[in-house]
Amino acid sequence: MAIRYNESSRSFQLDTKAASYVIGVVDAEGFVGHAYFGKKLGEDDVTYLMRTGEGPYTPETNARDRLSFLDSFPMEYPTGGIGDFRESAIVVRSSGGHRALQLTLDSYEIFKGKKPLEGLPATWGSEEDTETLELVLTDKVLKVKAILSYSIFEGIDAVVRSVKLINESDAPVFIDRIMSASMDMDNRDYDKILLTGSWARERRIDRTPVNYGIQGMSSLRGEEGHQTHPFMALLDRTATEDAGDVYGVNLVYSGNFLTLADRGQFDTVRVMTGINPEGFCWKLNPGECFQAPEAVLVYSAEGLNGMSHAFHDLYREHLIRGQYRDRKRPILINNWEATYFNFNTEKLLDIARQASKLGIEMLVMDDGWFGNRFDDNRALGDWFVNEEKLPGGLKYLVDEVNKLGMKFGIWVEPEMISPDSELYRAHPDWAIQVPGRTAGLARNQLVLDMSRREVQDHVFDMIAGVLRSANIEYVKWDMNRPLSDLGSYSLSAERQGELYHRYVLGMYRLQERLTSEFPHILLENCSGGGARFDAGMLYYSPQIWCSDDTDAIERLAIQEGTALIYPLSAMGAHVSDCPNHTVGRTTPFETRGYVALAGTFGYELDVTKIPEADRNMIPEQVAMYHKYNDLVRTGDYYRVASYQQNHMYDCWMVVKKDRSEALVTFIQVMGRANAHSRRILLKGLCPDKTYRIEGEERTYLGSTLMQAGVLVGNLWGDFKGKLIHIVEA
Ligand code: GLA
Repeated sequence: MAIRYNESSRSFQLDTKAASYVIGVVDAEGFVGHAYFGKKLGEDDVTYLMRTGEGPYTPETNARDRLSFLDSFPMEYPTGGIGDFRESAIVVRSSGGHRALQLTLDSYEIFKGKKPLEGLPATWGSEEDTETLELVLTDKVLKVKAILSYSIFEGIDAVVRSVKLINESDAPVFIDRIMSASMDMDNRDYDKILLTGSWARERRIDRTPVNYGIQGMSSLRGEEGHQTHPFMALLDRTATEDAGDVYGVNLVYSGNFLTLADRGQFDTVRVMTGINPEGFCWKLNPGECFQAPEAVLVYSAEGLNGMSHAFHDLYREHLIRGQYRDRKRPILINNWEATYFNFNTEKLLDIARQASKLGIEMLVMDDGWFGNRFDDNRALGDWFVNEEKLPGGLKYLVDEVNKLGMKFGIWVEPEMISPDSELYRAHPDWAIQVPGRTAGLARNQLVLDMSRREVQDHVFDMIAGVLRSANIEYVKWDMNRPLSDLGSYSLSAERQGELYHRYVLGMYRLQERLTSEFPHILLENCSGGGARFDAGMLYYSPQIWCSDDTDAIERLAIQEGTALIYPLSAMGAHVSDCPNHTVGRTTPFETRGYVALAGTFGYELDVTKIPEADRNMIPEQVAMYHKYNDLVRTGDYYRVASYQQNHMYDCWMVVKKDRSEALVTFIQVMGRANAHSRRILLKGLCPDKTYRIEGEERTYLGSTLMQAGVLVGNLWGDFKGKLIHIVEA
């Protein structure tokens, strides 16, 4: 890992474990260009890739064709308004109303370690394992300075980027658009992967060619939503799970985003990601700065699995924080699908009594414990205990649960307010809404104006009071509707365009307060299932609820898409009841356990009511979790076969970092008549090591398991699964 500046070629080269990223500076004016990102280079000069040796050359040799230069040069951070007609990374409006910006290099700094991003989640690192390059670019007319920051990490093929804009003039400027990263690449017959979906169908992998023009994804929901995701991969059309060039772009942000690829006239592809400019405008007063969120760029020469490994390692080692980061999480049982709103202390204790006997370690009380919340029509914002449901209060319940040897966790939805709530009656202006219009309801609720300090602090104090009132060791933080009707009673007219982003900053501030004042609490984020499963939220919570769809077969696709970017240690996954509450499917209890094992593992059912045979299986599943979770949480994950592609079976595996152990999960979706066993080629093992498959006498070389493979016999029935545990002999 190293960052260096080469004086003679005027270039910066960032070398990670197996990749290089090269930035060049051209012309007397100091335009900053993107020269290369890909497999690691030697000590050589590749700045010729910026093509300034061919027409239109650069403005200092060919001033008459300045626009041709601006419109074809591979810009490292393209600005709007001066003649680069491709998508702009940044658009700034002067107080005179003009949109024009030219950013050229002023100075640079290379240093060990990495600075935090003020108010925003971001990757972090120490002086031993992280290095940063800061390029200081200026616009001489507007007197605006942009600091482009690039950090790299020991052993990980990722470059993380961010941008900070500083107004050094004596007049305000308006930021209409500020992307976190942009990269101009030659098109090499790329495909792109986007993650698409819907409620209960989050993050489906969608692979299509990169066509001419603008393509990508964006959100205007105030979060990324179930439907879209701040991620794009560009990959060689021939790239597979295990081979070929893949570039992954992910934004560390939890609000409106835009991620796009723009393939232009010279077959270059401009990729960028950042805050969605629609609905965004930020007034920057003299002396103020604006910090844009962080973007992560990953390169893999080893296909999609290599890309996933880089994201997983980066997020596990340099993003997720807190006491649970490297720890096995307690096996929880959540009462949502067991009872919905219909519970009381006795019911919860019944569940806990039964669960504790089976080895389950924590009871989580979901929605419905506060205010007069007997259904989802009221009481959000009234964060005090409903004594009708919980006679004796929270402390009594928690103490009783603790006496059973179990931990206790609680559900909250701090960002919301029900029109039918004490909070709304006291502070109607605390809800986001446009004066004179009736704000649209979703699930009968409105969104609190988290841009306001007094709102943040009020909600925090109420929830903190609850958390201090009993021995609460886990919080599920939910967010069950998108933002609409954007209006804040506290922002001036010219600052209303800041509300979406200020909302996210306010929410981050609350999460930061919660995690720093209650460091012992395990936080799990959630948003109507997985509408806010992103790298920003992972900075605060080591796990996020993946989806409201807990059906084992639906989860194959949801978890596959999620694990394309995010580590298995972060995926909230539970065994739930059947017929499944979202799709009505009945799957074997055993298979539900195998699928949940690929995530945080827990239960979401009424353990007092499920069939006895299923209940009797729980201690075995608990033992399975304890046996394999270290491996699943910390190992390298490989997609082996995808049901989404073959329509028959799914298979994935996790390999311990030292290659001494692996766990293969095989799920046969539909049973098949008269079928041979299926040959599965394993991945990630050490070819020369000798391995044993648990339950078999003989040994295998790693090369045998990867090249000849293993035979998995046809399983009798639909939705059947099997684990194969492999250990070094
Ligand atoms: C959301 C969550 C569920 C549950 C409900 C409670 O839908 O995703 O898990 O907590 O809210 O209202």
